[in-house]
Amino acid sequence: MERIVLLAGGAGYIGSHTAVELVKKGYQVVIADCHYNSSPLVYKRLKQITGRDICHYNVDVCDEEALEQVFEENQIDVVINFAGYKAVGESVRKPMKYYRNNLNSTFALLSQMKKHGVDRIIFSSSATVYGMNNPSPLTEENPLGPCTNPYGWTKFMNEQILRDTAQTWDTMSVVLLRYFNPAGAHESGLIGEDPKDIPNNLMPYISQVACGRLKELSVFGDDYDTHDGTGVRDYIHVVDLAKAHVCATDYSLNHSGVEAFNIGTGTGYSVLDMVKAFEKVNGVPVPYQITPRRPGDVAVCYADSSKAQQILGWKAQKNLEDMCRDSWNWQSQNPNGYDSGA
Ligand code: UFG
Repeated sequence: MERIVLLAGGAGYIGSHTAVELVKKGYQVVIADCHYNSSPLVYKRLKQITGRDICHYNVDVCDEEALEQVFEENQIDVVINFAGYKAVGESVRKPMKYYRNNLNSTFALLSQMKKHGVDRIIFSSSATVYGMNNPSPLTEENPLGPCTNPYGWTKFMNEQILRDTAQTWDTMSVVLLRYFNPAGAHESGLIGEDPKDIPNNLMPYISQVACGRLKELSVFGDDYDTHDGTGVRDYIHVVDLAKAHVCATDYSLNHSGVEAFNIGTGTGYSVLDMVKAFEKVNGVPVPYQITPRRPGDVAVCYADSSKAQQILGWKAQKNLEDMCRDSWNWQSQNPNGYDSGA
């Protein structure tokens, strides 16, 4: 019998790629998403890729009553919680909005899971839980916090809520996936990252500059202690990241307790490495100017992902060239994201 995986917030960038990989591995997928930061057009694209109509509910994951129907109508085996606001800067300006939404979605899910005897959850966490004081490569043994913004704290707090809940529930499996910097898109160019406003993150910003939608990239600081002075991060192809969720789902079926995994490549690239690679791979210019540092940024952040390799049997397969090519393939086919057309 096919196992059923509920993807809460599953219509977004990472959730949609995970849906594809789960279906490929024989899982049945149910998506619950209110499209606050995703497009309902994604389902048509998912059908083009997988050949399947993906069961989906237009519900806010914080709305427990609406969620109840999803749990009533589907025998869910595993929940993956992708639901959450993710703009770091906005979280500083509107902390309540972030705490309320990002914590309530977990509360609503946990409450429904308890009610329906669903005891496995995978949580979209982030390298941001390691705060600013740990040196890279980061391992899961590093102390957590203090986080530098409310968004980061919501990831930190969600992890703690899940750890505490697991203490009270013998059979519960909690898998915390700490993402580094997702980039790239599905190789078909049918799904990808579609930021609602001006992108906050580097790769979508570069793509939108390359296609002429934005004038130039601001490189936030060139005086860090790195090989070219610009910030270094661990960019991970979104399809590799999606596959990590499949491995975590397989793992959770025979696991109880709480386990955290870093999901990165272990290699750091600077902002200018990214710009140059993008220009070279795609043959398009990416004009930029150097501007002051962005508050809250660290110089260097990359993962030690050996735990994920040892325990989940997962390792990133794709490289920087793949990320640059696939991001551009998606962006150039969909210059205005999902609103670009069919
Ligand atoms: N950067 C620029 N210009 C931009 C955007 C980014 O120079 O327009 C630089 C940043 O200063 C940083 C690098 O590009 O050096 C990456 O920045 P991102 O905003 O893409 O990513 P961050 O590493 O700041 O944050 C990401 C996720 C967060 C997560 C964090 C975990 O966006 O959700 O990693 O460490 F919390």
